Amino acid sequence: MKDDKDTIENTRSDKLWGGRFSEKTAASVEAFTASIHYDSRLYRHDIAGSRVHARMLAKQGLISEAECDSILDGLEAIEHEIDSGNFEFRPELEDIHMNIEKALVEKIGAAGEKLHTGRSRNDQVALDLRLYLREVCGWFQELLSDVQKALVLLARKYENAVMPGYTHLQSAQPVRVAHHLLAYYEMFRRDKDRLADCFKRINVMPLGSAALAGTGLPIDREFVARELGFPAVTANSMDTVGDRDFAVEFLADCALIQMHLSRMSEELVLWSSQEFAFIEIADRFCTGSSIMPQKKNPDVPELIRGKSGRVVGHLMAMLTILKGLPLTYNRDLQEDKEPVFDTVDTISQCLSITAEMLTGLKFNTDTLADATRTGFMTATDLADYLVLKNIPFRQAHSIVGKTVAYCIDKGKQLEELSLEELHQFSQSIEEDVYSVLSVQGSVDSRQSAGGTSARTVSEALRLAEEALGIE
Ligand code: ARG
Repeated sequence: MKDDKDTIENTRSDKLWGGRFSEKTAASVEAFTASIHYDSRLYRHDIAGSRVHARMLAKQGLISEAECDSILDGLEAIEHEIDSGNFEFRPELEDIHMNIEKALVEKIGAAGEKLHTGRSRNDQVALDLRLYLREVCGWFQELLSDVQKALVLLARKYENAVMPGYTHLQSAQPVRVAHHLLAYYEMFRRDKDRLADCFKRINVMPLGSAALAGTGLPIDREFVARELGFPAVTANSMDTVGDRDFAVEFLADCALIQMHLSRMSEELVLWSSQEFAFIEIADRFCTGSSIMPQKKNPDVPELIRGKSGRVVGHLMAMLTILKGLPLTYNRDLQEDKEPVFDTVDTISQCLSITAEMLTGLKFNTDTLADATRTGFMTATDLADYLVLKNIPFRQAHSIVGKTVAYCIDKGKQLEELSLEELHQFSQSIEEDVYSVLSVQGSVDSRQSAGGTSARTVSEALRLAEEALGIE
């Protein structure tokens, strides 16, 4: 007769959590629930958390010093194996937490089985994700600075070049090229501020919340927080294991970064078209057509623009995952990682390549200057001139409107009108009007704070260079 015990052992679950299970997990379920193919990315953070957790357990007398040493040695060896690509990740062990724990037990035996004391994967995964995003926030701030530097260098190079400024994509008023570029510098500055703010909420230590209710074991959360460089521990264990607000915030900040990159990309695509011909994107950042030999396509900014789809989508995914979840941890939360990781990969690629591409950008300053001489872009200056001659702005607006209509009719630009022609519209116009109607005069008159004059732009450039440490 077959040994009863043997039969039971063969059919029982061999999972770390398998004690109460009487049959093995279906292969389809193992495949469906596994996250190791993406959360292996968190191994360094998982090990960092486990190291401190083990030291805390020893300090609190929950494991012996010898057991702690053995755990630390085991974790060290596992980290090396993963670093060098010699670790075998096993999907049947679900996730990074259990892959590492199982490997530890196999390596060091009984002491390894004590590592999970006073801890749950629910607070463990929250810790790993926070440790990971804490790093990414710093990294992205640096990448954003690289893009800003490229923008500021370009702005300095083209400090005095002028170009049409647009509203409704209709020529509106002439501006400095540098002023336009520094507009993006400001967007990326806000993006950095937002990441710094998000970092504050990421930077709170969740471990010790255990499964959901805390633990009866005498753990020391403050010690773990201190050792891992967190200024505080989370306040409510139930909130902690179900909270992914910090991930939503991070994804929202990334969506804004990508939206800014996308707007800039759209301009690069537009400006590099034959119709605009404002810029040249270096050949090494463009691709050709397989059928049209003359083509040079701006695929890089197009792809950056296109990748907004996935980044915005990941934010929506994260909010949708969370919106109906009852407290506390639910397995749905495992779906947080792929949106976060893909966002990190996308944003890091897009920021790096943008910084690189900007360095190879050339502005066609003559074309830009020519473009400012059509479209009556100094019309507002003429209205402001009349205001300074004591004509109420609404009347001035109407006078200039009629003058522009006259120009369209005669096929002339404003500065081509003689004083006699101008007098048809207002007797207040004098010889000094021509400096106002010139593009340079217009641009340099805009000295209000944040305006496009030589003085204000030069000051903005100086501040930007100082902030970025550019000599
Ligand atoms: N892989 C899981 C996740 O990413 C880890 C936590 C699992 N917890 C659990 N009780 N099944 O969310």
